[in-house]
Amino acid sequence: MQAITPRKKLASSIAIIIAGMCMNTVGFAQQTTVTVETKQNALVLQTDKDNRLDIAYFGARLANTGDYTSIASQYTGGLVGSGTYNNAYTPAGSWNLLEPAITVIQGDGNTSLDLKYVSSATKKLDDNVSMTSVVLKDNLYPVEVTLFYKVYYNENVVEQWSVIKNNGDKPIKMQKYASANLYFRAGNYYLTHYNGEWAQEMKPEEDHLEHGVKSIDTKLGTRADLFEPPSFMISLNKPATEDEGEVLLANLAWTGNYKIDFEVDPSNNLRVIAGINPYASEYTLAGGKDFTTPALIYTLSQHGKGEASRNLHRWATKYRLVDGEGQRLTLLNNWESTYFNFDENKLTELFKGAKDLGVDMFLLDDGWFANKYPRNSDFAGLGDWQENVKKLPHGIGYLVKQAEAAGVKFGIWVEPEMVNPKSELYETHKDWVIRQPERPEKYFRNQLVLDLSNPDVQNFVFSILDSLFIKNPTLAFIKWDCNAVIYNAHSMYLEKQGLPETHLYVDYVKGLYKVLERLRTKYPKVPMMLCSGGGARVDYGALQYFTEYWPSDNTDPLERIFIQWENSYFFPVIASCNHITDWGKQPLKFRTDVAMMGKMGYDIVVNKLSAQDLAFSQQAVQTYKAISGVVWHGDMYRLVNPWQNPVASSMFVSEEKSRAIMFTYLVSNRYMPAATTLPIQLKGLDPQKKYTVNEINLYPGTHSSFSGNNTFSGDFLMKIGINPNINAGRASVVLEINETK
Ligand code: GLA
Repeated sequence: MQAITPRKKLASSIAIIIAGMCMNTVGFAQQTTVTVETKQNALVLQTDKDNRLDIAYFGARLANTGDYTSIASQYTGGLVGSGTYNNAYTPAGSWNLLEPAITVIQGDGNTSLDLKYVSSATKKLDDNVSMTSVVLKDNLYPVEVTLFYKVYYNENVVEQWSVIKNNGDKPIKMQKYASANLYFRAGNYYLTHYNGEWAQEMKPEEDHLEHGVKSIDTKLGTRADLFEPPSFMISLNKPATEDEGEVLLANLAWTGNYKIDFEVDPSNNLRVIAGINPYASEYTLAGGKDFTTPALIYTLSQHGKGEASRNLHRWATKYRLVDGEGQRLTLLNNWESTYFNFDENKLTELFKGAKDLGVDMFLLDDGWFANKYPRNSDFAGLGDWQENVKKLPHGIGYLVKQAEAAGVKFGIWVEPEMVNPKSELYETHKDWVIRQPERPEKYFRNQLVLDLSNPDVQNFVFSILDSLFIKNPTLAFIKWDCNAVIYNAHSMYLEKQGLPETHLYVDYVKGLYKVLERLRTKYPKVPMMLCSGGGARVDYGALQYFTEYWPSDNTDPLERIFIQWENSYFFPVIASCNHITDWGKQPLKFRTDVAMMGKMGYDIVVNKLSAQDLAFSQQAVQTYKAISGVVWHGDMYRLVNPWQNPVASSMFVSEEKSRAIMFTYLVSNRYMPAATTLPIQLKGLDPQKKYTVNEINLYPGTHSSFSGNNTFSGDFLMKIGINPNINAGRASVVLEINETK
């Protein structure tokens, strides 16, 4: 018999649904309570007297499971409509007066929908993961909605989505079809959301939510996050800090138009409705068909943003990213050193540079393809994926072999969803391009978007990658770019099929996922970078197919500290491609130290480095290889916030708390910049353990101020801290903290 450990026992006894029947205290019909629990939290769903499903509670777990049934009666609410605002999936057109989660036009044109509780079930998928589903139905019309809650118990992460089914014969039109509808009861609500532009991604803003609806959304179609990504935080009662406060961190796993509504209702509670953007996206569901919405992925912490982000990191590396618990390749990219201006010989020289540096791989960027309209600038060639014979007379195969002979792997850039009007693809397949035939074309980076709702286009995009792999089986890496938004949204394909125009934004993303799914089935492990002219496409829908993403084209290390800092709340740093380039005024050491805080790469001309810079970089690559295990797989703790201080500091701690790496950077460029005159308190160590602290990644010829007795207890390091002695002459410091017996 297999012994049940106390941890396992606890997990199995609580990660289950309690679909108990119990009497409502006010004596109406029988109530059903469905409890979705993680290690720390409970989401309690409960039917009301009309058998509609409400959210009775979402917050820290109660000690006694039986207490959940008593929560609802403690909230008496207001007058008009009270008792309905907390519906678990709010329908439009019947009793609801606020922002709906679902709006449907029925087969006969009727605009009403009401959803009543039918049943619920929980399946245990393994020791840690369970799936709760709750079926709701309209009693008048044949519409059925199933709410899904996939629970990752130890990580405190929930993936929530819905499946909408048309059980009738006639088609219905869905005007809004949210993934999740949540409800919070607190004194105040603070929404942190992000805005951006090219090279200025992930700028945070925190709003105190007032009554009414605040929405974040995108209508860009592709590279949807350019102005506003689908990642957000909600602090309850007061703005959460790194280690204090109740806070929800969430990301909508959808690589296209999304909309998230935050509505403070008349009872002062917060309704959150997240899903595909209804904008120009009315979706027709034929009789007998169903529609699966993308998942909202969220975690709730009562101990600040730091813990919430570590929840997401653990979840993402274990369950979401491709090879999240594996290794990553260090690389040399040629984009900034050559742009479009290269040939076979120049590249072969660069391979040697990659080998000299000691990185694992060379990544060939844009400009290697197209012949009739050669890709010598971003004005032409996109779509024509044949090697340019002038630049590469011996093809990619030759380059792969040359790189391997030089001792590095070879990876390649593609932007397969796009087309330049100056291309053979455009000339032969105008019908594959998203455009309004009657209107002038509007370009974004001189290009247009291919219509991925069309299966022929899906096949074409798949075949670009597939043939690269077939011809070059040792191809080690793909950088998948996406540099245009959708203007003039019109699909010739949908028109020919007699399908509504308003399916395009949704079917585009579904088409993209189909291609990526096919690719991952055939090539499950090959590392792929999700890039979109910088960080304009980072979400957990796309990331399930990728090993990493490109946070921004802005590689100025000072800027990157902030961009990487904000992204790190939602995505583990193993996925963050941080390249050392010539951007910024900081010395090479500073640029390298910033890149090390994630997945390090280079985009420089190696043979232009001074002897000292080269020696430093060679050593840095080796140092990085020695510490990357802790950075990629350890727990991240943010120590000093660069938005509020002249320095930024964060650290990564191994699971056994035996090793940690701490990065500290000066971010103030004021005259006489503030030095760290105070120690920085470390986090995540074992107070009982003893640690030695050493400075690593020193530039040749410099001496560390860390000499002498560097042994401290974990208790000391966390209560008093350590001073990395940052100042204008020591603008970045990397410390290695090792347990000593
Ligand atoms: C985008 C990417 C860059 C580079 C260029 C190539 O801008 O973000 O890294 O690959 O495209 O055209």
